[in-house]
Amino acid sequence: MKITMTSSAKVKPDFTSLGFGKYFTDHMLVMDYVDGKWGELEIVPFDSLQMSPATNCLHYAQGIFEGAKAYKNDEGKITAFRLKENFARMNRSASRMCMPNFDAGKVIEGLKELLNIEKDWIPSASGTALYIRPTMIATDPMLGVHASHTYKFFIILSPVGAYYANGMKPTKILVEESFVRASIGGTGEAKCMGNYAASLLASEIAISKGYDQVLWLDAKEHKYAEEVGAMNMFFVIGNEVVTPALVGSILPGITRKSSIELLRAEGYIVTERRISITEIVDAYKSGNLKEAFGTGTAAVVSPVGLIGYGGHDMIINNQEMGSITSELYTKLTDIQNGRSEDKFNWVNKIN
Ligand code: PLP
Ligand code: COI
Repeated sequence: MKITMTSSAKVKPDFTSLGFGKYFTDHMLVMDYVDGKWGELEIVPFDSLQMSPATNCLHYAQGIFEGAKAYKNDEGKITAFRLKENFARMNRSASRMCMPNFDAGKVIEGLKELLNIEKDWIPSASGTALYIRPTMIATDPMLGVHASHTYKFFIILSPVGAYYANGMKPTKILVEESFVRASIGGTGEAKCMGNYAASLLASEIAISKGYDQVLWLDAKEHKYAEEVGAMNMFFVIGNEVVTPALVGSILPGITRKSSIELLRAEGYIVTERRISITEIVDAYKSGNLKEAFGTGTAAVVSPVGLIGYGGHDMIINNQEMGSITSELYTKLTDIQNGRSEDKFNWVNKIN
């Protein structure tokens, strides 16, 4: 692999106030698809991309991305989490968006090299990580609506803290009753750019009403809970932990999958099924809605303290992090940070 090191390394930000996705490391990994095949992976200095204003992805959103994280422990050991899952999902997203698949194994090797070069950018304090953002865009400079023939793949890295501005404080989510995120047969289970653009208006309206995010309902009946902007949802009802089933319109989250496995290993009853908003309201009214939380790479395990629906706010667990949410957060982040044994074989060793 060709590596070109930067001649002007950046001054690193204050690792105690990183926020999310604001700073980028000195190098990035790039690979181009031309003439029906992927070229070599290359590590180059982080820089702007040059492209024609007619570039396909800028007009028709033929673009996909991923989110993963790398961690550094107190001894300087670097780990990443379930990278194979991320790149397998990225190839599935690519297929859905009519984009070429790539060799995930080679990309993981290239990424490991990049992470070693950027190791001083990986924060080690609890709640921080180096966020990994693989992206693929269509690069043909043409305005016809059809699949591009050329593509650019790149991975950029960003040291991050908590995704939500108020850290681990339980979030307030508003059930979205008119807009929809994705329908069956659409692109909801792909991690494609357009899904996020389409979600912004509803989020902005929810934020203007004092909520943090929206909880999407299914597109057909506006009845079943799906997911939140950047995380999958779990509801603790009585002694059952319920998460919406992957019906085709929800992103199959890697943190979701890991959380299901971890909770089941701890003896909890975890069910993947359709869950209607009426069931959630009824559980709330009868005192059975014990906890709610979201899971995601950026969001980790985020408690939800309030759900607004039909003009009423349901306060969950006194707006405090519940015991199952807290146990899951600790168990998961201990594995991710290399603090506890990797008994599920989820961790990628980087150095
Ligand atoms: N749902 C959406 C829409 C997301 O953007 C994300 C974040 O990637 C998730 C769920 C959680 O997925 P994961 O746990 O793989 O990060
Ligand atoms: C992630 O959690 O990695 C995501 O992609 C969420 C994001 C849209 C910030």
